[in-house]
Amino acid sequence: MAHSEAFRKQRRKLLLAGVAVSGLGAAGLLKPEAQNAGHSRYFLSLQKALQEKGLATPTLVIDRQRLDHNISVLKRHIVDEFHYRIVAKSLPSLPLLKYVMAGTGTQKLMLFHQPSLNQVAYALPESDLLLGKPLPVACAARFYEQFEASPSGFKPEHQLQWLVDSEARLAEYQQLAAQRKQPMRVNLEIDIGLHRGGFTSQEILARALTTIEQSPWLTFGGFMGYEPHIIQAPGPTDWLRDKAMARYQQFVDTAEHTLGRSISDLTLNTGGSTTYQLYRGMGGRIPANELAAGSGLVLPTDFDVPTLADHQRAAFIATPVLKLLDNTRIPGAPGLGRLQSLWNPNHARTAFIYGGYWKASPVSPPGLINNSIYGRSTNQEMLNLAEGVPLKVDDHVFLRPHQSEAVLLEFGDLTIFDGDKGEISERWPVFDRG
Ligand SMILES: Cc1ncc(COP(=O)(O)O)c(C=O)c1O
Repeated sequence: MAHSEAFRKQRRKLLLAGVAVSGLGAAGLLKPEAQNAGHSRYFLSLQKALQEKGLATPTLVIDRQRLDHNISVLKRHIVDEFHYRIVAKSLPSLPLLKYVMAGTGTQKLMLFHQPSLNQVAYALPESDLLLGKPLPVACAARFYEQFEASPSGFKPEHQLQWLVDSEARLAEYQQLAAQRKQPMRVNLEIDIGLHRGGFTSQEILARALTTIEQSPWLTFGGFMGYEPHIIQAPGPTDWLRDKAMARYQQFVDTAEHTLGRSISDLTLNTGGSTTYQLYRGMGGRIPANELAAGSGLVLPTDFDVPTLADHQRAAFIATPVLKLLDNTRIPGAPGLGRLQSLWNPNHARTAFIYGGYWKASPVSPPGLINNSIYGRSTNQEMLNLAEGVPLKVDDHVFLRPHQSEAVLLEFGDLTIFDGDKGEISERWPVFDRG
């Protein structure tokens, strides 16, 4: 008995020691390593190009070769199976949109903001525009008021589809059209599983279609069913995609039954950057006939997903280092910065950069990190780095935006980097936010 008690105790000690050792081992594995390699050749060449142009304020860089790569990947996936519609909010610059329109051979754009809609209708009079979200009817009224003030070759009654998500909004748009004696095309938002609003009931849809059909001012442009949930929701992606398309088909069947004609020649939109590749080989077998995508062409970090694995990172924030300190000090907490760096040696030193607190993560030099305790700043933000990272005051650091739609608007003109020549070739103005 005494023997087995001693044995049990010894076994417990051994077990605990084992747990402690493996715990330390695991902690050792988790403990970050110092990264002090400094900028890669790519970022050194980008830094040189920026410095040659004297660009020393925070700048949003688009890499033209990488954008070209992404355009050709997108074309390869979509082939001739679907029309391609550019999500303009994710590439919010007229020259950038023109570049992508030329590269992909499409005139189709998806817009989300009334002032941008006016800018695009004016500057790209050949374009075919679909709203990606339903706008308040007052925005539609404002569009026509501002459009009259600057007429272009653009014909809204043929080239613009307003997005309508409910019978109530349909009534408002109908009233506006009648008041202005302005023919309007409407596209109906359908819920194919995202549950972000739009028509869900076939019965209500049929009523809305009848209203459009009977209106002297409205015409039916098609459907918009967005489905990014198919790569996010639990369940096999192919199954979720097929379920979404089966749902889409029900809406199409209801429309064809209600209208008594085929709608396959109308705008039947679906897709986004994270899902467009899932339709390869399905053209003609699913109800949708066009795919939308935007962000994937510049690939911000939110789009680092397996369905975009063949796209390249083409957008960076570049900003100069204003100050470099040999250590990391947190006001009111002496020794805390040192403690942080004992655990993570990439907290050893400090750079204060020009600007900061963007929706973005540092990428170069590798190992550059935010300090969550010191706090964030939009004016001069603290970043930490390891001993030995070759970085000087006035050098640039680089971050990757998390998303493009808002971040690309924060830096003034976009800076176009031609990596093969190692030079900044152009500056492209972004949308005026209105
Ligand atoms: C209706 C609609 N379609 C497509 C997209 C896809 O845009 P992106 O390719 O930039 O993710 C979005 C994004 O918000 C959207 O709202």
